[in-house]
Amino acid sequence: MKISLEFQPVERVDAEALIVPVFEGRPETRFGTASLAGEVTGKALELTLLHHVPGVSAARVLLAGAGKPEKFTAAEQRNLAGAALRFLKLKSVARVALALDPKFAAPEFAQAAVEGAILGDFDPDKYKTGEKKTVESFTVVAAARDEPLDRAVERGRIVAEAQNSARALVNEPANKLTPSGVVAAARQVAAEFGLECQVLEREDMAALGMRALLGVAQGSAEPPALAMLRYQPPGAPSKAHLGLVGKGVTFDSGGISIKPSDGMEKMKYDMAGGASAIGAMRAIAQLKPAIAVTAFIPCVENMPGGRAQRPGDIVAAMSGKTIEVINTDAEGRLILADALTYARSRGCTHLVDVATLTGAIVVALGHLRAGLFSSDDGLRDRVLSASQSAGERMWPMPLDEDYKDYLKSAPADLANVGGRWGGAVTAAIFLKEFAGDTPWVHLDIAGTAWVDEEKPHLAKGPTGLPVRTLVRLALDWEE
Ligand code: BES
Ligand code: ZN
Ligand code: ZN
Repeated sequence: MKISLEFQPVERVDAEALIVPVFEGRPETRFGTASLAGEVTGKALELTLLHHVPGVSAARVLLAGAGKPEKFTAAEQRNLAGAALRFLKLKSVARVALALDPKFAAPEFAQAAVEGAILGDFDPDKYKTGEKKTVESFTVVAAARDEPLDRAVERGRIVAEAQNSARALVNEPANKLTPSGVVAAARQVAAEFGLECQVLEREDMAALGMRALLGVAQGSAEPPALAMLRYQPPGAPSKAHLGLVGKGVTFDSGGISIKPSDGMEKMKYDMAGGASAIGAMRAIAQLKPAIAVTAFIPCVENMPGGRAQRPGDIVAAMSGKTIEVINTDAEGRLILADALTYARSRGCTHLVDVATLTGAIVVALGHLRAGLFSSDDGLRDRVLSASQSAGERMWPMPLDEDYKDYLKSAPADLANVGGRWGGAVTAAIFLKEFAGDTPWVHLDIAGTAWVDEEKPHLAKGPTGLPVRTLVRLALDWEE
Protein backbone atom coordinates (compact mmCIF):
# COMPACT_ATOMS: atom_id res chain seq x y z
CA MET A 1 0.00 0.00 0.00
CA LYS A 2 1.46 3.33 -1.08
CA ILE A 3 1.45 5.93 1.70
CA SER A 4 1.42 9.68 1.11
CA LEU A 5 0.63 13.03 2.66
CA GLU A 6 -1.26 15.81 0.93
CA PHE A 7 -1.90 19.37 1.96
CA GLN A 8 -5.18 20.62 0.59
CA PRO A 9 -8.81 21.39 1.37
CA VAL A 10 -10.68 18.12 1.95
CA GLU A 11 -13.23 18.96 -0.75
CA ARG A 12 -10.52 18.73 -3.40
CA VAL A 13 -9.00 15.37 -2.44
CA ASP A 14 -8.93 12.96 -5.33
CA ALA A 15 -9.74 9.52 -3.86
CA GLU A 16 -12.24 6.69 -4.21
CA ALA A 17 -13.08 7.22 -0.57
CA LEU A 18 -12.31 9.97 1.92
CA ILE A 19 -12.44 9.08 5.61
CA VAL A 20 -13.65 11.94 7.81
CA PRO A 21 -13.74 11.64 11.60
CA VAL A 22 -16.97 12.74 13.30
CA PHE A 23 -17.18 13.26 17.03
CA GLU A 24 -19.80 12.40 19.58
CA GLY A 25 -21.65 15.53 20.63
CA ARG A 26 -20.72 17.36 17.42
CA PRO A 27 -21.64 15.00 14.58
CA GLU A 28 -22.07 17.79 12.02
CA THR A 29 -19.41 17.30 9.38
CA ARG A 30 -17.52 19.74 7.28
CA PHE A 31 -19.88 19.03 4.38
CA GLY A 32 -23.12 20.30 5.81
CA THR A 33 -24.37 16.79 6.50
CA ALA A 34 -25.79 17.89 9.81
CA SER A 35 -29.16 16.65 8.61
CA LEU A 36 -27.83 13.16 9.10
CA ALA A 37 -27.28 13.93 12.75
CA GLY A 38 -29.97 11.58 13.93
CA GLU A 39 -28.26 8.69 12.18
CA VAL A 40 -24.64 9.70 12.67
CA THR A 41 -23.87 9.74 16.36
CA GLY A 42 -20.08 9.96 16.21
CA LYS A 43 -19.76 6.96 18.54
CA ALA A 44 -16.35 5.33 18.32
CA LEU A 45 -15.91 3.26 15.15
CA GLU A 46 -19.43 3.87 13.83
CA LEU A 47 -19.09 3.98 10.04
CA THR A 48 -21.46 5.73 7.61
CA LEU A 49 -20.73 5.62 3.89
CA LEU A 50 -22.00 8.48 1.72
CA HIS A 51 -21.87 8.61 -2.07
CA HIS A 52 -21.55 11.72 -4.24
CA VAL A 53 -21.45 14.32 -1.50
CA PRO A 54 -22.10 17.69 -3.22
CA GLY A 55 -18.98 19.80 -3.59
CA VAL A 56 -16.62 16.95 -2.72
CA SER A 57 -14.27 15.47 -5.37
CA ALA A 58 -13.86 12.11 -3.66
CA ALA A 59 -16.39 9.55 -4.92
CA ARG A 60 -17.32 8.50 -1.39
CA VAL A 61 -17.13 10.03 2.06
CA LEU A 62 -16.85 7.64 4.98
CA LEU A 63 -17.93 9.29 8.21
CA ALA A 64 -15.93 7.55 10.90
CA GLY A 65 -17.09 7.78 14.50
CA ALA A 66 -14.30 9.12 16.69
CA GLY A 67 -16.06 9.07 20.06
CA LYS A 68 -15.88 11.91 22.57
CA PRO A 69 -13.35 14.59 21.61
CA GLU A 70 -11.91 14.73 25.13
CA LYS A 71 -11.09 11.02 24.91
CA PHE A 72 -9.63 11.14 21.42
CA THR A 73 -5.93 10.19 21.52
CA ALA A 74 -3.50 8.74 19.00
CA ALA A 75 -4.73 5.27 19.99
CA GLU A 76 -8.31 6.14 18.95
CA GLN A 77 -7.01 7.67 15.72
CA ARG A 78 -5.08 4.46 14.97
CA ASN A 79 -8.15 2.29 15.55
CA LEU A 80 -10.39 4.62 13.57
CA ALA A 81 -8.07 4.55 10.55
CA GLY A 82 -7.75 0.76 10.80
CA ALA A 83 -11.49 0.12 11.08
CA ALA A 84 -12.29 2.51 8.23
CA LEU A 85 -9.64 1.00 5.99
CA ARG A 86 -10.80 -2.57 6.63
CA PHE A 87 -14.39 -1.53 5.88
CA LEU A 88 -13.36 0.04 2.57
CA LYS A 89 -11.04 -2.82 1.65
CA LEU A 90 -13.96 -5.23 1.98
CA LYS A 91 -15.82 -3.05 -0.53
CA SER A 92 -12.84 -3.19 -2.92
CA VAL A 93 -12.07 0.51 -2.64
CA ALA A 94 -8.50 0.90 -3.87
CA ARG A 95 -7.58 4.57 -3.33
CA VAL A 96 -8.28 5.80 0.19
CA ALA A 97 -7.65 9.13 1.89
CA LEU A 98 -8.13 10.25 5.48
CA ALA A 99 -8.71 13.86 6.51
CA LEU A 100 -7.07 14.83 9.79
CA ASP A 101 -9.50 16.64 12.02
CA PRO A 102 -8.28 20.25 12.39
CA LYS A 103 -8.32 19.88 16.18
CA PHE A 104 -6.33 16.66 16.02
CA ALA A 105 -3.76 17.39 13.36
CA ALA A 106 -0.55 17.12 15.41
CA PRO A 107 2.17 14.78 14.05
CA GLU A 108 1.26 11.98 16.48
CA PHE A 109 -2.23 11.82 14.94
CA ALA A 110 -0.86 11.65 11.42
CA GLN A 111 1.53 8.89 12.46
CA ALA A 112 -1.25 6.97 14.19
CA ALA A 113 -3.52 7.24 11.14
CA VAL A 114 -0.84 5.75 8.91
CA GLU A 115 -0.09 3.00 11.40
CA GLY A 116 -3.76 2.15 11.77
CA ALA A 117 -4.28 1.95 8.02
CA ILE A 118 -1.24 -0.26 7.40
CA LEU A 119 -2.07 -2.53 10.33
CA GLY A 120 -5.72 -2.69 9.26
CA ASP A 121 -4.66 -3.63 5.75
CA PHE A 122 -2.95 -6.81 6.99
CA ASP A 123 -4.80 -10.07 6.51
CA PRO A 124 -3.20 -13.40 7.34
CA ASP A 125 -4.33 -14.90 4.02
CA LYS A 126 -1.00 -15.67 2.34
CA TYR A 127 -1.89 -19.32 1.76
CA LYS A 128 -5.40 -18.70 0.41
CA THR A 129 -5.42 -19.20 -3.32
CA GLY A 130 -8.51 -17.18 -4.30
CA GLU A 131 -8.45 -13.58 -5.45
CA LYS A 132 -7.48 -11.10 -2.75
CA LYS A 133 -8.56 -7.54 -2.26
CA THR A 134 -5.84 -4.92 -2.11
CA VAL A 135 -5.84 -1.26 -1.21
CA GLU A 136 -3.44 0.59 -3.53
CA SER A 137 -2.94 3.82 -1.69
CA PHE A 138 -3.61 5.62 1.57
CA THR A 139 -3.24 9.39 1.76
CA VAL A 140 -3.30 11.53 4.88
CA VAL A 141 -4.81 14.93 4.19
CA ALA A 142 -3.86 17.98 6.24
CA ALA A 143 -4.98 21.55 5.78
CA ALA A 144 -1.64 23.34 6.00
CA ARG A 145 1.88 22.48 4.88
CA ASP A 146 3.89 21.26 7.83
CA GLU A 147 7.25 19.55 7.80
CA PRO A 148 6.90 17.55 11.06
CA LEU A 149 3.87 15.88 9.48
CA ASP A 150 6.06 14.54 6.67
CA ARG A 151 8.36 12.91 9.18
CA ALA A 152 5.45 11.56 11.23
CA VAL A 153 3.85 9.91 8.20
CA GLU A 154 7.17 8.36 7.22
CA ARG A 155 7.76 7.13 10.76
CA GLY A 156 4.28 5.62 10.92
CA ARG A 157 4.87 3.81 7.65
CA ILE A 158 8.22 2.38 8.74
CA VAL A 159 6.96 1.23 12.13
CA ALA A 160 3.70 -0.31 10.90
CA GLU A 161 5.35 -2.07 7.96
CA ALA A 162 7.86 -3.49 10.44
CA GLN A 163 5.01 -4.62 12.68
CA ASN A 164 3.25 -6.28 9.73
CA SER A 165 6.48 -8.03 8.78
CA ALA A 166 6.55 -9.51 12.29
CA ARG A 167 2.90 -10.57 11.93
CA ALA A 168 3.66 -12.23 8.60
CA LEU A 169 6.47 -14.23 10.19
CA VAL A 170 4.28 -15.28 13.11
CA ASN A 171 1.58 -16.36 10.72
CA GLU A 172 3.91 -18.79 8.91
CA PRO A 173 3.13 -22.38 9.85
CA ALA A 174 5.87 -24.41 11.50
CA ASN A 175 6.41 -26.56 8.39
CA LYS A 176 7.28 -23.41 6.44
CA LEU A 177 9.13 -21.54 9.17
CA THR A 178 11.70 -23.64 11.00
CA PRO A 179 14.53 -22.25 13.14
CA SER A 180 16.62 -21.93 9.94
CA GLY A 181 13.70 -20.03 8.42
CA VAL A 182 13.80 -17.46 11.23
CA VAL A 183 17.54 -17.12 10.63
CA ALA A 184 16.89 -16.56 6.91
CA ALA A 185 14.32 -13.87 7.77
CA ALA A 186 16.84 -12.13 10.04
CA ARG A 187 19.51 -12.28 7.34
CA GLN A 188 17.11 -10.79 4.83
CA VAL A 189 16.23 -7.85 7.08
CA ALA A 190 19.95 -7.29 7.68
CA ALA A 191 20.71 -7.27 3.96
CA GLU A 192 17.78 -5.07 3.01
CA PHE A 193 18.06 -2.46 5.75
CA GLY A 194 21.77 -2.46 6.52
CA LEU A 195 22.25 -4.31 9.80
CA GLU A 196 24.99 -6.66 10.86
CA CYS A 197 23.79 -10.27 11.17
CA GLN A 198 25.56 -13.08 12.95
CA VAL A 199 24.36 -16.61 13.59
CA LEU A 200 25.44 -19.19 16.14
CA GLU A 201 24.97 -22.77 14.94
CA ARG A 202 24.62 -25.83 17.15
CA GLU A 203 28.41 -26.36 17.44
CA ASP A 204 29.01 -22.71 18.38
CA MET A 205 26.40 -22.97 21.10
CA ALA A 206 27.87 -26.22 22.37
CA ALA A 207 31.30 -24.58 22.60
CA LEU A 208 29.74 -21.75 24.65
CA GLY A 209 28.07 -24.24 26.98
CA MET A 210 24.46 -23.38 26.09
CA ARG A 211 23.16 -26.71 27.36
CA ALA A 212 19.80 -25.31 28.49
CA LEU A 213 18.99 -24.19 24.94
CA LEU A 214 20.46 -27.29 23.29
CA GLY A 215 18.49 -29.57 25.61
CA VAL A 216 15.24 -28.12 24.24
CA ALA A 217 16.42 -28.50 20.64
CA GLN A 218 17.52 -32.12 20.89
CA GLY A 219 14.06 -33.64 20.42
CA SER A 220 13.66 -32.09 16.99
CA ALA A 221 15.15 -32.95 13.62
CA GLU A 222 15.45 -29.22 12.93
CA PRO A 223 18.80 -27.76 14.03
CA PRO A 224 18.66 -24.85 16.50
CA ALA A 225 20.27 -21.45 15.90
CA LEU A 226 20.79 -18.16 17.65
CA ALA A 227 20.33 -15.23 15.30
CA MET A 228 21.72 -11.79 16.06
CA LEU A 229 20.97 -8.46 14.43
CA ARG A 230 23.08 -5.49 15.39
CA TYR A 231 22.43 -1.79 14.94
CA GLN A 232 25.23 0.66 15.65
CA PRO A 233 24.21 4.34 15.70
CA PRO A 234 26.01 6.67 13.33
CA GLY A 235 28.66 8.89 14.94
CA ALA A 236 29.99 8.32 18.44
CA PRO A 237 29.02 4.98 19.96
CA SER A 238 26.44 5.33 22.75
CA LYS A 239 27.34 4.23 26.25
CA ALA A 240 24.18 2.20 26.58
CA HIS A 241 23.72 -0.95 24.55
CA LEU A 242 20.18 -2.29 24.44
CA GLY A 243 19.71 -6.03 23.99
CA LEU A 244 16.36 -7.32 22.70
CA VAL A 245 15.96 -11.03 23.37
CA GLY A 246 13.04 -12.70 21.59
CA LYS A 247 11.77 -16.23 22.16
CA GLY A 248 11.95 -18.10 18.85
CA VAL A 249 10.24 -21.46 19.37
CA THR A 250 8.93 -22.18 15.88
CA PHE A 251 6.66 -24.89 17.25
CA ASP A 252 5.96 -25.80 20.85
CA SER A 253 4.50 -29.31 21.07
CA GLY A 254 5.47 -29.35 24.74
CA GLY A 255 8.09 -32.03 24.08
CA ILE A 256 7.78 -35.17 26.20
CA SER A 257 5.47 -33.19 28.53
CA ILE A 258 3.29 -33.00 25.46
CA LYS A 259 0.47 -30.48 25.18
CA PRO A 260 -3.17 -31.50 24.67
CA SER A 261 -4.04 -31.60 20.95
CA ASP A 262 -6.87 -29.10 21.32
CA GLY A 263 -5.44 -25.77 20.20
CA MET A 264 -1.93 -27.11 19.69
CA GLU A 265 -1.92 -25.74 16.12
CA LYS A 266 -1.61 -22.28 17.61
CA MET A 267 1.80 -23.08 19.02
CA LYS A 268 3.32 -21.95 15.73
CA TYR A 269 3.10 -18.49 17.30
CA ASP A 270 5.58 -19.37 20.01
CA MET A 271 8.21 -17.44 18.04
CA ALA A 272 6.24 -14.17 18.23
CA GLY A 273 8.78 -12.63 20.64
CA GLY A 274 11.58 -13.37 18.18
CA ALA A 275 9.53 -12.01 15.28
CA SER A 276 8.86 -8.79 17.19
CA ALA A 277 12.59 -8.37 17.84
CA ILE A 278 13.34 -8.80 14.12
CA GLY A 279 10.49 -6.43 13.23
CA ALA A 280 11.76 -3.83 15.69
CA MET A 281 15.27 -4.06 14.24
CA ARG A 282 13.89 -3.49 10.76
CA ALA A 283 12.37 -0.19 11.89
CA ILE A 284 15.36 0.76 14.05
CA ALA A 285 17.68 0.32 11.06
CA GLN A 286 15.64 2.92 9.17
CA LEU A 287 14.84 5.36 11.98
CA LYS A 288 18.38 5.36 13.38
CA PRO A 289 18.05 6.05 17.12
CA ALA A 290 21.08 7.23 19.11
CA ILE A 291 21.47 3.98 21.06
CA ALA A 292 23.20 0.76 20.00
CA VAL A 293 20.72 -2.12 19.79
CA THR A 294 21.31 -5.84 19.29
CA ALA A 295 18.58 -8.44 18.92
CA PHE A 296 19.22 -12.02 20.03
CA ILE A 297 16.77 -14.63 18.80
CA PRO A 298 17.25 -18.15 20.13
CA CYS A 299 15.44 -20.43 17.67
CA VAL A 300 14.38 -24.02 18.35
CA GLU A 301 11.55 -26.40 17.73
CA ASN A 302 10.25 -28.14 20.88
CA MET A 303 9.48 -31.73 19.82
CA PRO A 304 9.19 -35.12 21.51
CA GLY A 305 11.63 -37.00 19.22
CA GLY A 306 13.68 -40.04 20.23
CA ARG A 307 16.52 -37.88 21.48
CA ALA A 308 14.22 -35.46 23.31
CA GLN A 309 15.10 -34.37 26.81
CA ARG A 310 13.13 -36.06 29.57
CA PRO A 311 11.46 -34.71 32.69
CA GLY A 312 14.07 -35.10 35.40
CA ASP A 313 17.02 -34.34 33.14
CA ILE A 314 19.55 -31.92 34.59
CA VAL A 315 21.31 -29.43 32.32
CA ALA A 316 24.02 -26.86 33.01
CA ALA A 317 23.22 -23.46 31.51
CA MET A 318 25.87 -21.21 29.97
CA SER A 319 25.97 -19.18 33.19
CA GLY A 320 27.06 -22.29 35.09
CA LYS A 321 23.78 -22.74 36.97
CA THR A 322 22.26 -26.22 36.84
CA ILE A 323 18.58 -26.72 36.01
CA GLU A 324 16.32 -29.66 36.71
CA VAL A 325 13.89 -29.95 33.79
CA ILE A 326 10.69 -30.93 35.56
CA ASN A 327 8.46 -30.07 32.62
CA THR A 328 9.76 -30.02 29.03
CA ASP A 329 6.91 -27.67 28.09
CA ALA A 330 8.53 -24.90 30.13
CA GLU A 331 11.09 -24.61 27.31
CA GLY A 332 10.96 -20.88 26.65
CA ARG A 333 12.72 -19.97 29.88
CA LEU A 334 15.43 -22.57 29.13
CA ILE A 335 16.38 -21.06 25.78
CA LEU A 336 16.02 -17.50 27.10
CA ALA A 337 18.30 -18.32 30.05
CA ASP A 338 21.20 -18.97 27.69
CA ALA A 339 20.28 -16.13 25.34
CA LEU A 340 20.23 -13.65 28.25
CA THR A 341 23.59 -14.89 29.52
CA TYR A 342 24.99 -14.58 26.03
CA ALA A 343 23.58 -11.07 25.53
CA ARG A 344 25.27 -9.99 28.76
CA SER A 345 28.56 -11.53 27.61
CA ARG A 346 28.27 -9.44 24.43
CA GLY A 347 28.19 -6.21 26.42
CA CYS A 348 24.49 -5.34 26.59
CA THR A 349 23.91 -2.82 29.38
CA HIS A 350 20.10 -3.11 29.30
CA LEU A 351 18.00 -6.12 28.39
CA VAL A 352 14.41 -6.50 27.26
CA ASP A 353 13.18 -10.00 26.58
CA VAL A 354 9.93 -10.67 24.77
CA ALA A 355 8.31 -14.08 24.99
CA THR A 356 5.06 -16.00 24.67
CA LEU A 357 6.11 -17.51 27.94
CA THR A 358 3.14 -18.66 30.01
CA GLY A 359 -0.53 -19.53 29.84
CA ALA A 360 -0.68 -18.07 33.34
CA ILE A 361 -0.21 -14.51 32.05
CA VAL A 362 -3.32 -15.01 29.90
CA VAL A 363 -5.23 -16.05 33.02
CA ALA A 364 -3.93 -12.96 34.84
CA LEU A 365 -4.32 -10.27 32.18
CA GLY A 366 -6.39 -11.70 29.35
CA HIS A 367 -5.63 -10.57 25.81
CA LEU A 368 -5.47 -6.83 26.42
CA ARG A 369 -2.26 -6.22 28.32
CA ALA A 370 1.15 -7.86 28.22
CA GLY A 371 2.78 -8.66 31.58
CA LEU A 372 5.82 -6.57 32.39
CA PHE A 373 8.36 -7.78 34.93
CA SER A 374 11.49 -5.90 35.89
CA SER A 375 14.37 -5.89 38.30
CA ASP A 376 15.11 -2.24 37.56
CA ASP A 377 12.75 0.68 38.18
CA GLY A 378 14.44 2.93 35.63
CA LEU A 379 14.17 0.47 32.75
CA ARG A 380 10.63 -0.48 33.79
CA ASP A 381 9.58 3.16 33.56
CA ARG A 382 11.24 3.60 30.19
CA VAL A 383 9.45 0.56 28.76
CA LEU A 384 6.10 1.50 30.30
CA SER A 385 6.31 5.02 28.95
CA ALA A 386 7.33 3.74 25.50
CA SER A 387 4.38 1.35 25.56
CA GLN A 388 2.00 4.17 26.47
CA SER A 389 3.27 6.40 23.67
CA ALA A 390 3.09 3.50 21.24
CA GLY A 391 -0.42 2.46 22.28
CA GLU A 392 0.49 -1.10 23.28
CA ARG A 393 -0.87 -1.91 26.71
CA MET A 394 1.22 -3.56 29.42
CA TRP A 395 0.88 -4.04 33.17
CA PRO A 396 3.63 -4.21 35.81
CA MET A 397 3.81 -7.54 37.64
CA PRO A 398 5.67 -8.41 40.87
CA LEU A 399 9.07 -10.06 41.27
CA ASP A 400 9.52 -10.44 45.04
CA GLU A 401 12.67 -12.32 46.07
CA ASP A 402 10.81 -15.03 47.96
CA TYR A 403 8.97 -16.24 44.85
CA LYS A 404 12.31 -17.90 44.15
CA ASP A 405 11.48 -20.53 46.76
CA TYR A 406 8.90 -21.89 44.31
CA LEU A 407 11.76 -22.96 42.02
CA LYS A 408 13.65 -25.07 44.56
CA SER A 409 15.09 -28.31 43.23
CA ALA A 410 16.58 -31.11 45.32
CA PRO A 411 19.23 -32.23 42.81
CA ALA A 412 19.99 -28.95 40.94
CA ASP A 413 20.35 -25.21 41.49
CA LEU A 414 16.80 -24.57 40.33
CA ALA A 415 13.81 -26.28 38.74
CA ASN A 416 12.34 -25.03 35.49
CA VAL A 417 8.80 -24.86 36.87
CA GLY A 418 7.36 -23.51 40.09
CA GLY A 419 4.17 -25.43 40.68
CA ARG A 420 0.60 -24.48 40.04
CA TRP A 421 0.30 -20.93 41.35
CA GLY A 422 1.73 -17.69 40.09
CA GLY A 423 3.03 -19.33 36.93
CA ALA A 424 3.81 -16.10 35.08
CA VAL A 425 5.75 -14.76 38.08
CA THR A 426 7.78 -17.91 38.67
CA ALA A 427 8.69 -18.00 34.97
CA ALA A 428 9.93 -14.41 35.27
CA ILE A 429 11.81 -15.21 38.48
CA PHE A 430 13.54 -18.03 36.62
CA LEU A 431 14.70 -15.59 33.92
CA LYS A 432 15.85 -13.09 36.52
CA GLU A 433 18.43 -15.61 37.70
CA PHE A 434 20.07 -15.26 34.29
CA ALA A 435 19.65 -11.53 33.77
CA GLY A 436 21.74 -11.09 36.93
CA ASP A 437 22.47 -7.48 37.83
CA THR A 438 21.96 -6.13 34.31
CA PRO A 439 18.87 -3.88 34.19
CA TRP A 440 16.25 -6.11 32.61
CA VAL A 441 12.61 -6.17 31.60
CA HIS A 442 10.66 -9.29 30.70
CA LEU A 443 7.51 -8.97 28.59
CA ASP A 444 5.20 -11.98 28.64
CA ILE A 445 3.15 -11.64 25.45
CA ALA A 446 1.41 -15.04 25.47
CA GLY A 447 -1.99 -13.30 25.67
CA THR A 448 -1.33 -10.34 23.39
CA ALA A 449 0.69 -11.71 20.47
CA TRP A 450 -2.33 -13.43 18.95
CA VAL A 451 -6.04 -12.57 18.95
CA ASP A 452 -8.71 -15.19 18.28
CA GLU A 453 -11.40 -12.70 17.39
CA GLU A 454 -11.36 -10.24 14.55
CA LYS A 455 -11.61 -6.60 15.63
CA PRO A 456 -13.01 -3.81 13.43
CA HIS A 457 -9.48 -2.43 13.06
CA LEU A 458 -7.49 -5.66 13.11
CA ALA A 459 -7.65 -9.10 11.52
CA LYS A 460 -7.64 -12.06 13.84
CA GLY A 461 -4.33 -13.83 14.27
CA PRO A 462 -0.91 -12.33 14.94
CA THR A 463 -0.85 -8.77 16.34
CA GLY A 464 2.84 -7.93 15.99
CA LEU A 465 3.03 -6.70 19.58
CA PRO A 466 5.25 -5.18 20.94
CA VAL A 467 7.15 -3.92 17.87
CA ARG A 468 6.00 -0.33 18.32
CA THR A 469 7.04 -0.26 21.98
CA LEU A 470 10.51 -1.64 21.26
CA VAL A 471 11.08 0.90 18.50
CA ARG A 472 9.82 3.72 20.67
CA LEU A 473 12.05 2.62 23.55
CA ALA A 474 15.11 2.91 21.33
CA LEU A 475 14.01 6.21 19.71
CA ASP A 476 13.19 7.91 23.03
CA TRP A 477 16.37 6.74 24.76
CA GLU A 478 18.23 9.45 26.57
CA GLU A 479 21.33 8.65 28.58
N1 BES B 1 4.54 -21.45 24.78
C1 BES B 1 3.98 -21.78 26.04
C2 BES B 1 3.17 -20.64 26.66
C3 BES B 1 1.92 -20.22 25.94
C4 BES B 1 0.69 -20.65 26.39
C5 BES B 1 1.98 -19.36 24.87
C6 BES B 1 -0.47 -20.22 25.76
C7 BES B 1 0.82 -18.94 24.26
C8 BES B 1 -0.41 -19.38 24.70
C9 BES B 1 5.07 -22.15 27.04
O1 BES B 1 6.20 -22.72 26.50
C10 BES B 1 4.46 -23.15 27.96
O2 BES B 1 4.11 -24.21 27.51
N2 BES B 1 4.32 -22.79 29.23
C11 BES B 1 3.72 -23.66 30.20
C12 BES B 1 4.56 -23.59 31.44
C13 BES B 1 4.21 -24.64 32.44
C14 BES B 1 4.63 -26.00 31.94
C15 BES B 1 4.91 -24.33 33.72
C16 BES B 1 2.31 -23.14 30.48
O3 BES B 1 2.12 -21.92 30.52
O4 BES B 1 1.42 -23.96 30.61
ZN1 ZN C 1 5.99 -24.84 26.25
ZN1 ZN D 1 6.59 -22.20 24.51
